[in-house]
Amino acid sequence: MDWFAWDFDRPAYFQIYADKDAEAATEGPALAALLDLPPGSRVLDLPCGWGRLHPHLAARGLEIVGGDLSLLNLRRHAAEHPAPLARLDFRALPFREACADGVFCAYTSWGYFATGEENLQQLTEFARVLRPGGVLLLDLAGRNFLKEAVAEVEGQWLEFPDEGYEERATWSPDGRRIRTERRCQGEAFRHDIWIPTDAEARACLAEAGFGAVRPYGGLDGRPWAAMAERWIYRAIRT
Ligand SMILES: C[S@@+](CC[C@H](N)C(=O)[O-])C[C@H]1O[C@@H](n2cnc3c(N)ncnc32)[C@H](O)[C@@H]1O
Repeated sequence: MDWFAWDFDRPAYFQIYADKDAEAATEGPALAALLDLPPGSRVLDLPCGWGRLHPHLAARGLEIVGGDLSLLNLRRHAAEHPAPLARLDFRALPFREACADGVFCAYTSWGYFATGEENLQQLTEFARVLRPGGVLLLDLAGRNFLKEAVAEVEGQWLEFPDEGYEERATWSPDGRRIRTERRCQGEAFRHDIWIPTDAEARACLAEAGFGAVRPYGGLDGRPWAAMAERWIYRAIRT
């Protein structure tokens, strides 16, 4: 089974990421502002997870449809934040061409696939469902920041007793992917995510059909910076 079909679909995922609920109060309004679409715009929240950012998109008057691979996440979303939802895989979206004004892709939700072709396909699918002039907001981890943050602890198991899990991060031998192993609730998890350089992210966006790209270096819309913790790309479908 692909790691992403397992890791996000176990109850332990909600325990490991419990702090993200509180962070949604900051991230949601900020990311929705960077998406910057007028009320009434049709936005696909891909992936929507358990819907922690949904209220902040809805607060801007956007018409939101959420999509995710994890049934566990979709069920929680439906219970806590009722909305139109679809179970889907990024590689083949169940939406018609040019149906959306925006695609909202928050919290390092690109680079999960093993091959470059599949990761590009995710962006190509985003481009396909956007109308010309539509907006993709792609919120990624800043590669250089992450490299520096992991360097001090790479390969060491770190304990998070309050949160009830332990984790160990290592880079793949070629330095392109971060592998984060976690143990929680007696189960083992292993995220394996390609973390692109800025040049790689921009090249993929261009190849997928996005023209103008505005990069930000933080939730407050500050300019992109090489050492920023987040690289957030607002890309326009040509
Ligand atoms: C880090 S979470 C982000 C969720 C949400 N954007 C947020 O900020 O809370 C990544 C999500 O991607 C979903 N996912 C992973 N692989 C996927 C795939 N191939 N197709 C669709 N969704 C996928 C997971 O189920 C998980 O809910």
